[in-house]
Amino acid sequence: MLRKIVLLIALTLSAFAGSESAYPTHWKSYESVKTPLATIGALPDCNADVSSLPAIYQETVATYCAVKPGGPGAVEILVNKSAKEPYAKRNGKFPDGATMILHLKDLKVLFVTTYKGNKPLYSIYTESGQDAAGKPGSGLNPNDCRKCHTGYGAFCVNGQCATQK
Ligand code: HEC
Repeated sequence: MLRKIVLLIALTLSAFAGSESAYPTHWKSYESVKTPLATIGALPDCNADVSSLPAIYQETVATYCAVKPGGPGAVEILVNKSAKEPYAKRNGKFPDGATMILHLKDLKVLFVTTYKGNKPLYSIYTESGQDAAGKPGSGLNPNDCRKCHTGYGAFCVNGQCATQK
């Protein structure tokens, strides 16, 4: 009986546990890289004219512009050591554990992509390590990440969207 209850709790928790990979404990030691978004430096609010940007960037702004008044604000792109070379090469070949982060600095949130068996896994954590994944359709669910990161043809190569400058 007790084992059944424990199993039930475990199943319930796993059904709600959103993020697909562990919190990247050492994220503060990752290096920032230059990408189109990093160069812009911030995600704007919903009034910004983004019509000259590629469609995937327009959808990114549309997805997140309303999270707070003034928009999500300052961002940076961080990659750990094992992701640096593959990120620069943009050939879709990442070793296990390779991690890159879209750091929403003003929101204090980490959008995390981690590789396992060369497959991208998506996670959302607060800077201090709380799982911040949300419901499907909220923009904060791993499947929402996956949908955009695979939905624009070759714009994203095996989960990596930006081209490093
Ligand atoms: C509507 C589209 C869209 C959604 C939804 C989206 N992203 Fe992205 N993401 C992008 C684009 C475009 C970039 C490249 C921005 C740049 O650096 O120029 C990017 C960049 C990233 C990066 C930096 C590495 C890279 O791919 O270049 C990470 C990490 C990332 N996203 C994780 C996530 C996670 C986790 C989620 C879900 C919570 C998510 N993204 C949701 C479009 C999206």
